[in-house]
Amino acid sequence: MTARMLSRGALEEIARLRAGYPEARSALIPSLHVAQAEVGYLAEGAMAEVGEALGLPLTEVASVASFYEMFHLEPVGRHHIRICINISCHLNGCDEVVDYLCRRLGIRPGQTTADGRVTLESVQCLAACEEAPVLLINAERHARVTPAAVDELLARLP
Ligand code: FES
Repeated sequence: MTARMLSRGALEEIARLRAGYPEARSALIPSLHVAQAEVGYLAEGAMAEVGEALGLPLTEVASVASFYEMFHLEPVGRHHIRICINISCHLNGCDEVVDYLCRRLGIRPGQTTADGRVTLESVQCLAACEEAPVLLINAERHARVTPAAVDELLARLP
């Protein structure tokens, strides 16, 4: 028998979320957030437990999880930097910021530092085009980012 991935607390939270909606499917995205917060990413076992808790097939859970960039299907670093490379950010200098991040971290987008501290990812629009270039560090948005700002942001990471 495989070890369970979700704690009793996480499963209780998923049950609470489920009770708040007439359809189990409506509780899927918030439940995936609960699972990801607990495990660090959405391993197949964690998705299976979410599906079991909501009465949904794994294929449906996995298709939703794989659709949204906010969900990780592979392990990520303790800090997840997502930088937008879409048109507004591109026109406002994101390439320079991406290059600088790569040099500072010693990785390319899609990679994690060897110590597991930071995952860098380039993503499409973060819905803050008026503040381009934009990046997220975990859930925190940073606007009009420059290489100098990157130095400050990286220095603040625990
Ligand atoms: S294009 Fe970068 S936030 Fe929209």
